[in-house]
Amino acid sequence: MRILVTGGAGFIGSNFVRYVYKERPDWHITVIDKLTYAGNLKNLDGLDESRVNFIKGDICDEPAIEQAVADSDTVVHFAAETHVDNSIQGPWPFVETNVIGTYRVLEAVRKSDKRLHHISTDEVYGDLGLDSSEKFSEKSPYDPRSPYSSTKAGSDHLVRAWGHTYGVKATISNCSNNYGPYQHIEKVIPRNITNILTGIKPKLYGEGKNRRDWIHAEDHSSAVLAILENGKLGETYMIGADGEKDNKQLIQTILELMGKDPNDFEFVKDRPGHDLRYAIDAAKLRTELGWAPKYTDFREGLKQTIQWYTDNQDWWQPQKDETEAKYKELGR
Ligand code: NAD
Ligand code: TYD
Repeated sequence: MRILVTGGAGFIGSNFVRYVYKERPDWHITVIDKLTYAGNLKNLDGLDESRVNFIKGDICDEPAIEQAVADSDTVVHFAAETHVDNSIQGPWPFVETNVIGTYRVLEAVRKSDKRLHHISTDEVYGDLGLDSSEKFSEKSPYDPRSPYSSTKAGSDHLVRAWGHTYGVKATISNCSNNYGPYQHIEKVIPRNITNILTGIKPKLYGEGKNRRDWIHAEDHSSAVLAILENGKLGETYMIGADGEKDNKQLIQTILELMGKDPNDFEFVKDRPGHDLRYAIDAAKLRTELGWAPKYTDFREGLKQTIQWYTDNQDWWQPQKDETEAKYKELGR
C-alpha cells in the first residue's frame, strides 16, 4: 500500500503518519506539505526514509498534486489552514487551501481513480446551546459560522458532489477538537501550557464558558485508519471521544497539573462570533467499525501532553514570541 498524506507535517497529519508507520509496517507513506507556518519537518524526525518520503508542495499546484496522487494508491487529505482566529484576520488562505486545494485533490483522484479520505471538523455544523445535551451526528445540518468552518464545509460539499457525480471513491470524517504532541502553540492547550512554562498567565477568552469536546490525536488517527480500511465509500463518520469540557475547566486543569494555582489565569477579549459548544455523537463509528478511543482519561492524556511540551522546548520556543505578538495585537 502506498499512501499519500496531504498536510502530513502538521499536527494531526504527523500524528497520523507516526501511527500508520507503527501500525502498518508494510505500508509506504508519502507526505505532501507546503510547510506553512503550521508545518514543521521536525514533526517527522526519526522516521526511516525508506518508508516515508517527503514532498514539499502545495495542494493547489495542479501538476504537483496530480503527480503525487498518481504515484500512490490511497490519499488521506489533512492539508488545510486551521486556526479560527487567523481566519477572522485573513480569510483568503483558508479559501485558497481549504476550497481550491481540496478541488485540486479531488480532480487528481478523479483523474487517476484513487481512493480518498477527507479529514474535516465538527465546526461545519455550527454550534450547540451551552445548556443543551444535544450532540452533532452525521445527520446534523451544515451551519458553519466562521471563515475557517465555512471553507471546511465547502470542502466537504465538494467531496460529496465529486462522489455523487463522478463516482470518486471517497469517505469523510468530521472530528472534534484534538490535543496531543506536535500541535502548534497558537491553539488553546499548547498556547497555555507554553504560557505557563514561560511565566505568562494563561488566557481565557470571554467568560470561559465555551465548551469543546477533546480527543487525543492518536485516537483521531486510529479512527481514520479504521475508516480507510473498513469504512463504506460515500459515507461520513463523526469522530469524538466524549471529552467535553468548558474552557475554564480546561485552563484550571492545566494549571493544576502543572502545580500552579488554578485561578492564576486572566480573562481576555472574546473572539468575534465565538462558537459556544461542540459535542460529538460517534455511535456510528463505534458500532459499525468497532472503533474505541484509547485515551479515555482526559487528565492522563493532558498530563502526557504537558510533559511533551516540557521536554520539547526546542520545538516550540522559536515560535513563541511571534505567536504571542500576534495575539497581543488582537487583545487576546
Ligand atoms: P495544522 O494547521 O497543524 O497543519 C496543517 C498542515 O497543512 C501544515 O503542515 C501545513 O503546512 C499544511 N498545509 C497548509 N496549506 C497547505 C497547502 N496549500 N498545501 C500543502 N500543505 C498545506 O492542522 P491540524 O490541526 O493538524 O489539522 C489537520 C486537519 O484536521 C485539517 O483538515 C483540519 O481541518 C482537521 N481537523 C482539525 C482539528 C483540530 O482540533 N486541530 C479537529 C478536527 C479536524
Ligand atoms: P482553539 O484551540 O483556537 O480551537 P477552536 O476555536 O477551533 O475550537 O480554541 C479552543 C477554545 O479555546 C475556543 O473556545 C477559544 C478558546 N481559547 C481560549 O480561551 N484561550 C486561548 O488562549 C485560545 C487560543 C483559545
